[in-house]
Amino acid sequence: MAHRVLHFFADFFVYETAKSVVVKSWSVGIINRVVQLLIILYFIGWVFMHEKGHQLRDTGIESAVMTKVKGLGKFNNRVNDVADYVVPSQGGSSFSIITSMVITANQTQGRCPETDPKFKCTTDDDCMAQLGSNLGNGIITGTCLNNTSGTTGWCEIQGWCPAEDDNVTENPMKEVENFTIFIKNSIRFPMFNVTRGNFPSSLNQSYIQKCRYNPVDHPFCPVFKVGDILRNINQSLDSITDKGGEIGININWKCNLDYNVTYCNPNYFFTRLDAAFKNSVAAKGYNFRFAKYYQSEDGTECRTLHKAKAIRFEIIVSGNAGKFNTVPFLINLVTALTSVGLATVFCDIILLNFHKGADEYKAKKFEEVSGVVSESANNRLYEGSQMSIKALEKSSNDSGTFSIGRQESHSPPNQ
Ligand SMILES: *[C@@H]1O[C@H](CO)[C@@H](O)[C@H](O)[C@H]1NC(C)=O
Ligand SMILES: *[C@@H]1O[C@H](CO)[C@@H](O)[C@H](O)[C@H]1NC(C)=O
Ligand SMILES: *[C@@H]1O[C@H](CO)[C@@H](O)[C@H](O)[C@H]1NC(C)=O
Ligand SMILES: *[C@@H]1O[C@H](CO)[C@@H](O)[C@H](O)[C@H]1NC(C)=O
Ligand SMILES: *[C@@H]1O[C@H](CO)[C@@H](O)[C@H](O)[C@H]1NC(C)=O
Ligand SMILES: *[C@@H]1O[C@H](CO)[C@@H](O)[C@H](O)[C@H]1NC(C)=O
Ligand SMILES: *[C@@H]1O[C@H](CO)[C@@H](O)[C@H](O)[C@H]1NC(C)=O
Ligand SMILES: *[C@@H]1O[C@H](CO)[C@@H](O)[C@H](O)[C@H]1NC(C)=O
Ligand SMILES: *[C@@H]1O[C@H](CO)[C@@H](O)[C@H](O)[C@H]1NC(C)=O
Ligand SMILES: *[C@@H]1O[C@H](CO)[C@@H](O)[C@H](O)[C@H]1NC(C)=O
Repeated sequence: MAHRVLHFFADFFVYETAKSVVVKSWSVGIINRVVQLLIILYFIGWVFMHEKGHQLRDTGIESAVMTKVKGLGKFNNRVNDVADYVVPSQGGSSFSIITSMVITANQTQGRCPETDPKFKCTTDDDCMAQLGSNLGNGIITGTCLNNTSGTTGWCEIQGWCPAEDDNVTENPMKEVENFTIFIKNSIRFPMFNVTRGNFPSSLNQSYIQKCRYNPVDHPFCPVFKVGDILRNINQSLDSITDKGGEIGININWKCNLDYNVTYCNPNYFFTRLDAAFKNSVAAKGYNFRFAKYYQSEDGTECRTLHKAKAIRFEIIVSGNAGKFNTVPFLINLVTALTSVGLATVFCDIILLNFHKGADEYKAKKFEEVSGVVSESANNRLYEGSQMSIKALEKSSNDSGTFSIGRQESHSPPNQ
């Protein structure tokens, strides 16, 4: 056991140093040069093809978005303009276009029957069971109000009365497909201090008023028709006005600032953001409520409740910019030059394992020199050479760094 441990340490504490063996072999020589040449060619190609590889990249895009919707539409028998159907009205990067509304007028604080079928009742006990429920339009009082003519009624609530009944079919505002959204997006890449707008300042007023964005014919037009967006994402108007939905307008900036900055322009693409929930029972479309308050003539507080179904638009800006920089370039260059050394590794594998006379090369390449300076043990003296120690030289198989199967000295792999 002790012997083995000793042996292990003797094997472990060795020092390997490189020694140049010049092999005058045509085949290996040619392979070596060809592999070196291929590596150099590969890197020359790589340098030219992947110019982005040695660019400094700025992903911290700063962005500001302004939007403006235009169009007139009809629902609830009245003509609606932007002030009626766009919320919020500030024109930010996220806004909704209301396509239909359930309006409950003249609500005042009081007691009245529920409208939700969940709160149908025949006796007060049915309503007592619902006490504390927060699913209805008000606080359940625990009384069952009988319909004067029928046998079943609804639980009584305390709250805004009359309660909203949203079980009505209404026609959504079809004209929304002809509405237009004007988007002004300005961005900055802080690392390079480059500022860009989503349309060139050379576009004149009359063009911007008339144009509609089209990736082929009008790629710089900042005006988007809702119908075109829906067609682009393969959605019908009905599918989105039915329950409401969410649409993403993505503005993607990918700028190579090695070229003229006028080539730094955005790409647009569209997504239905709520597509992930299209089969979900819990999240149905997009709707929200808002109320308008007023005082009646006798001084009681009243409100008009609106339940709106809407298409919500989110404008999502992303992007990055790259510019040539010497630091990544030099790092890549050094990597390339170092890789030329791979040819040696490759040739060593061939030479030491598959070439005829591999054993001889192996013996020449891996030479074991005893650290003990013993003059008598060795007759060979390296006279005039810089090697001053008199070495005990013997051929060795055990240190073949590049030699496959160097551990199995009993069954050498080379044929
Ligand atoms: C709301 O109340 C006003 C007066 O109080 C009345 O003229 C009007 O018809 C009411 N509207 C509805 C929808 O009940
Ligand atoms: C509602 O009417 C039915 C039959 O007309 C009656 O049996 C029931 O007790 C009434 N409920 C209340 C709370 O008055
Ligand atoms: C009472 O019930 C009848 C039919 O059951 C219904 O048509 C009517 O709208 C109900 N009235 C109220 C105030 O709920
Ligand atoms: C909505 O009302 C219709 C009749 O107008 C009725 O058949 C239906 O069950 C109601 N749906 C809900 C969820 O109350
Ligand atoms: C949208 O505009 C086109 C022509 O500009 C018109 O034919 C179409 O009827 C409009 N759509 C709606 C829903 O009004
Ligand atoms: C950024 O560029 C503008 C001109 O394009 C210049 O006025 C401004 O000083 C620059 N800012 C910085 C921090 O270099
Ligand atoms: C606006 O630009 C368009 C082309 O972009 C051009 O055809 C049109 O004549 C210009 N109008 C004016 C008033 O400059
Ligand atoms: C659009 O959707 C319909 C069904 O919703 C489908 O049949 C059609 O293949 C889709 N077209 C594209 C281009 O995705
Ligand atoms: C970029 O191109 C525009 C027109 O294409 C030209 O006016 C401008 O001088 C160019 N800028 C640079 C830095 O080359
Ligand atoms: C090296 O391997 C050869 C067979 O390939 C064997 O004859 C020779 O003895 C080995 N040398 C040492 C030092 O193990």
